[in-house]
Amino acid sequence: MPRGARQKFFGNNFVTNETTCPDERSRHANPHGLRPVRLKSEQTIFQADATPVATIVAGPAGGIASAAALLAAGEVVALPTETVYGLGAAALDPAACARIFEAKDRPLSDPLIVHLPSRDWLDRVAVVSPMAFRLAEKFWPGPLTLVLPRLGIVPDLVTAGQETVAVRMSSHPVFSAVLQAYGKPVAAPSANRFGRISPTSAGDVIAELGGRIPLVIDGGGCQHGIESTIVLVRDSELHILRNGPVTEEELAGFGTVHGGVAGISAPGGLAGHYAPVTPLVIGKPAPAPGTGLLVWESSGDGFAHVEHLSKSRSLREAAANLYGAMRRLDAAGLDLIIAEPVPESGLGRAIMERLKKAAAR
Ligand code: TXA
Ligand code: MG
Repeated sequence: MPRGARQKFFGNNFVTNETTCPDERSRHANPHGLRPVRLKSEQTIFQADATPVATIVAGPAGGIASAAALLAAGEVVALPTETVYGLGAAALDPAACARIFEAKDRPLSDPLIVHLPSRDWLDRVAVVSPMAFRLAEKFWPGPLTLVLPRLGIVPDLVTAGQETVAVRMSSHPVFSAVLQAYGKPVAAPSANRFGRISPTSAGDVIAELGGRIPLVIDGGGCQHGIESTIVLVRDSELHILRNGPVTEEELAGFGTVHGGVAGISAPGGLAGHYAPVTPLVIGKPAPAPGTGLLVWESSGDGFAHVEHLSKSRSLREAAANLYGAMRRLDAAGLDLIIAEPVPESGLGRAIMERLKKAAAR
């Protein structure tokens, strides 16, 4: 391991961009990626005392076989999805899923989303109503999670003992290739410690979970940048438990859409989630020393640190930039972050939902 790479990581600015062919023999000899051996197209990140933090594999070609082998061995792996990076484990293996809760410090009361290798798996894990089938046909693979009655094959640990299971199919080519190679469903929450901002880059994953997981596949930035929309499907009624890239407007064509359901919410969707450590308020820009601004429409003049969501005021771009911008503001040593509100329609609802939770901590 060259010294430079280590220093780059501790400068919080490492990149893994080598694209030479992977050495498959070394890979199989080292399926957990934890030995400080440098494989071609891979980079092992070390702590100052030379303890390995995780192996990062750059690009789709590099790590598919390693990730599938780790999943089959009951390990966890961090993978890019089109929403945010996920921490995957074999969904039908409770011991493997337990490692997710351990790595994230996640309470066992918070259920996991089961990611399917193909639509064929849907009726093997859940009771599929005609409405659920139509939604999966329309939006999968993609950023929509369906909450449906579960079947017995799904471990209690995954559903937190509930009678429903959350399922989705990711459209990310790396995630999809790993699931094809592994061949079974993978449980994957966002790859952050519980209650923290979801990671949208391999570097964010290392900052959150370095030292706790063996492998991260670096797929670059995430297309959407915020987590999937979660919908509880009940007959012809759709209850949005978490707003996300698939909007209320898009779902309205399928049935009656409700903004949630009394007594039911995504258990992990508590106020206080998605929180930076620095206090955050939503409001009009009021420049002051030690104050940073998350900009939607103002100039940002006079603030100690400014991050723009989207200079062209595109909600899609704003969603994709949201978590990275929050992380940078959080790292800037500020006393306060002010977030300007975005319009609360379409994807703006999902963005405001995250900002309100960040402000509620
Ligand atoms: O975009 C995403 O959905 C990402 C990527 C990795 O797929 N995953 C993700 O997972 O955001 P997680 O665990 O960070 O958030 C899933 C949310 C949690 O709030 C959890 O409580 C909720 O889904 N959830 C899981 N199963 C549920 C169920 N059966 N009923 C209601 N909510 C459920
Ligand atoms: Mg999460």
